[in-house]
Amino acid sequence: MPYKNLDQLNCFSKLKEAASLNYTEPEEALFKNIEKKHITSPYLSFNYSYSQCNETLLTQFETWLEESHLYEQFQNMIDQKIINYSENRAVSHHQYRIQQSNESRDIDTLKKYCKTLRDTWKTENTLHKKAIVHIGIGGSESGPKACYHALKHLYSDVVPIYFLSNLDAIALEGIIKQIDPKKSLFILVSKSGSTLETKENYQRLAKALSSTLSPEAFEKQSILITTPNSPLDQHYKKAKRFYFQKEVGGRFSLLSPVGFVSLALSFGETVVDDLITGARSIDQMCIQKQPLSKNIPLLAACISTWQTSFLGYNSHVVAPYSTLLFDFSLYIQQLICESLGKSSNQYEEPISYPTSELIIGSCGTNAQHAFFQLLHQGHFIAPTQFICIAKTQSSYDNDDLQSLLNTNAVAQMIALSLGNESASNNKLKSSFSGARASSLFILPSLNPQSLGALISCYENIVSYRAILLNINAYDQPGVELGKLLANETLQKPNKDSLIQHTLNQINIASPK
Ligand code: F6P
Repeated sequence: MPYKNLDQLNCFSKLKEAASLNYTEPEEALFKNIEKKHITSPYLSFNYSYSQCNETLLTQFETWLEESHLYEQFQNMIDQKIINYSENRAVSHHQYRIQQSNESRDIDTLKKYCKTLRDTWKTENTLHKKAIVHIGIGGSESGPKACYHALKHLYSDVVPIYFLSNLDAIALEGIIKQIDPKKSLFILVSKSGSTLETKENYQRLAKALSSTLSPEAFEKQSILITTPNSPLDQHYKKAKRFYFQKEVGGRFSLLSPVGFVSLALSFGETVVDDLITGARSIDQMCIQKQPLSKNIPLLAACISTWQTSFLGYNSHVVAPYSTLLFDFSLYIQQLICESLGKSSNQYEEPISYPTSELIIGSCGTNAQHAFFQLLHQGHFIAPTQFICIAKTQSSYDNDDLQSLLNTNAVAQMIALSLGNESASNNKLKSSFSGARASSLFILPSLNPQSLGALISCYENIVSYRAILLNINAYDQPGVELGKLLANETLQKPNKDSLIQHTLNQINIASPK
């Protein structure tokens, strides 16, 4: 049965009408509902008190779920039916978190390999000299990088990971200066096996290190992570390989060999099970078809889609109050923008309603001193998702620095919501109206379990939003076009082309 576009559902006109109402709540109402508008789970909680979402709206969301056959469509994904129509594929990233699946067996093999390798390094007493260079871009880099930076402080015996993604000689040079080539592992990650940046970076790194490492030795110290029979799979036959299937979307591949190999080699293989435990805890809410009031990703998905598609807020902020989660906010940027930034439905027919916002990622409190002025008083509204960590793992927190950090996040939420009224002794000259929505994800502490839960939460938000919008979250035809154009130009340079004329303008600026 073809599912209907959002604007063909009966609930559409009611939701449209609802969008013209005022949802601002006075301070007393916020007080009253603060505990009610809260969903808890072992590794992740969600508070939506400041989301401008009342009972009436929640009832309308319920109708939206029914009319879009949300639980059925989600189940189709879990049952491995083809739901990515443009690529004629199922969507498989959840399978890594499902016990006894083929994917979970692959992960057992991967963990054994990583454990054996790390044990050898320990026996040889070389672990502290090792380095990993992770070469990939987009979904093949941003998630693993986010996890590495979020978790590296928790482990002893960490093998440093250097991420090489951009086509930038300075980045390459920076890594080369920090590693001992003979003691390094080169992890080449590309789902398609054809991404220009990744292929170039791998080859250039090999070339740059060739005085110390022969091409053969470089290849032997490499691990290739790709899909079977991808163009890269045809090469580098001396490299160790881990495969994943095409059904795992690049930006959904963090909790698969794409993220697990580098992380398990860096921290030890236990990180893999811990991330999976956290992710599974949120997956279960979705797989068990928990209702809106108990399902964190589902409620967060409804709120964000409502804000973008009905209220027309076309930028949202993801603001973790943690320095360690800065890269995480950038990973969410790709996950949401590349998945939901679409102008056709899942059957590739044009649609006219907005599907995605631009995600602005940063971390608090730094973001407060960068763009929060605009959030409070700018001419457009950008709803903000705050992420707070209840307890820091740092042993330096004698003065309750974490509480100071979280107080700042909450103060921002209240100021966004109540504006001028929020300050009891208000000496501010300028006025601001408030009525700007935000929501709050809470992690008990930052560890692999809670991070796994947060990753799964955002992945499932994206899947739910795609269903609510009747779009395909798992392809990226727009980006493919740019890739094609760049590859064509490089293979067949044409001095009369527009691309060449524009490049000339850059080249003439080179210092003489
Ligand atoms: O940015 C476009 C894109 O195709 C992403 O979807 C993907 O994560 C990235 O490029 C890298 O692709 P690959 O893993 O195939 O090298």
